[in-house]
Amino acid sequence: MQTYDIPFIPSSDDSVKTMMKLARPQKGETAVDLGAGDGKLVIALAQRGVYVTGVEIDEERWSLINARIKISQLQDLAKTIHGNLWEQDLSNYDLIVLYGVTSIMERLESKIKNEAKSTCRVVSNRFEFPTWQPAEVLDHVYLYRLQKAQ
Ligand SMILES: C[S@@+](CC[C@H](N)C(=O)[O-])C[C@H]1O[C@@H](n2cnc3c(N)ncnc32)[C@H](O)[C@@H]1O
Repeated sequence: MQTYDIPFIPSSDDSVKTMMKLARPQKGETAVDLGAGDGKLVIALAQRGVYVTGVEIDEERWSLINARIKISQLQDLAKTIHGNLWEQDLSNYDLIVLYGVTSIMERLESKIKNEAKSTCRVVSNRFEFPTWQPAEVLDHVYLYRLQKAQ
């Protein structure tokens, strides 16, 4: 089996609810899930009217997300990229969500800092960024507002 930067562990239903609560997604916003797994966060954001992109490196999971988007008839809002999160341009998103792992957080902090809009919000399930201050923390979910975090 291939190993990736982040193991596949889907966010729990409670964590998805908490992430949505802290993210406060607005209709028409743009979002990306970095490592989209089985698409739980992609679907949750699209159901709230967000234009969301799920980036997933694993081909089987990427296919599963596409099937779920189709079944949920959310093709107008949700799309996927079968690819590596490190190769994505993060400059066009209002919201970045992830369920990562400790080993990626330092590199990801610097990628987001270099690329994301200053108004971007980042919601991380379980894992904190090493130097940023979260704006809110609830049940191990961290909300960062970039203009205040750094
Ligand atoms: C912890 S799961 C999170 C899934 C989903 N975001 C959620 O919260 O339910 C992480 C996912 O990231 C994917 N992944 C790992 N390394 C990746 C990389 N370099 N680029 C894109 N996806 C990656 C894994 O295949 C896995 O499906």
